Amino acid sequence: MRFRPDVKPASRLDLSKAYTIDLVRSLRRLAFKNVRRTHEVVDTEYNAGEWKRILGERAWLRANTLEQFLIEENDAPRLAKVDGQIVRISTRDYYRYRIGALSELISRHAGGARSLLELGAGFGYNLFSLSLDPQWSSLRGFDIAPNGIEAGRQIATRFDLSDRVSFDRIDLTDAGDPRFEQLAGTTIFTYFCIEQIPHAVEAVVENIIRAKPARVVNIEPAVDMLKLSDPRDLTSRVYIQSMDYQTRLFKLLDTLDSRGRIRILARERMAFAPTLHNDGLLYAWEPRQQSQ
Ligand SMILES: C[S@@+](CC[C@H](N)C(=O)[O-])C[C@H]1O[C@@H](n2cnc3c(N)ncnc32)[C@H](O)[C@@H]1O
Repeated sequence: MRFRPDVKPASRLDLSKAYTIDLVRSLRRLAFKNVRRTHEVVDTEYNAGEWKRILGERAWLRANTLEQFLIEENDAPRLAKVDGQIVRISTRDYYRYRIGALSELISRHAGGARSLLELGAGFGYNLFSLSLDPQWSSLRGFDIAPNGIEAGRQIATRFDLSDRVSFDRIDLTDAGDPRFEQLAGTTIFTYFCIEQIPHAVEAVVENIIRAKPARVVNIEPAVDMLKLSDPRDLTSRVYIQSMDYQTRLFKLLDTLDSRGRIRILARERMAFAPTLHNDGLLYAWEPRQQSQ
């Protein structure tokens, strides 16, 4: 049963305070940091940063259940997007809600597949969330970060999931990576992964098309659908630019669709997000037969 939190929309005052703080932070980042998301920066943030910390902490050893591991014991309130609305919600309730929301979303776009492969899976937060839904029989995660892969494998072992959830390495920017062969005929998703590769979006999409997956679901930040008259969208736009996240993916997919290389099956704005910025957009698509 999907958990439906009892929440109220955030007040106007709450929202204007939060948007202002967020905007000021992003503008400061733009003015003083000038982030350029190179391979080294991504490695520092994830492999040598977040995933190394998670691997070092081994929080899964202290959790009795997988659900307990995934849902932070954190009652701090936050502003988040729940079912399309910005609400004030406890961090714990948001992540509990997200487990069901993610599975339902992917299920709606997976075309009946029961096996999924996530590209840029990190340590598998999404895959382990999905594993709580028995409809997914096999969940594979590929990532460039060895620390993420190692953490994912240890978590799978801890919760007896190694036969359903597995991890391997891939570099999505490397057309010669042998792991691409394993994408043929599979249902793939990305979740805020291509955002990290803003300077190789075309190459990554080309590598994926060439690997001939059955279907691809990209869930990534987008600037295309943002209405800059809306304070939330303006906050997202400036945030995305200040972080140097990708901004080209969805335009590229639209172009490939119009050229007959792929067929876009769905476009949808994400109804959930943990923060006010970096709203996700989902495109589901399949390569066309003639595309070689
Ligand atoms: C923002 S994290 C998202 C992780 C996961 N999808 C999630 O939602 O928890 C982005 C991930 O993309 C991975 N990544 C970045 N560049 C990559 C590349 N060239 N090939 C494969 N993975 C890459 C990073 O290592 C990181 O784990």
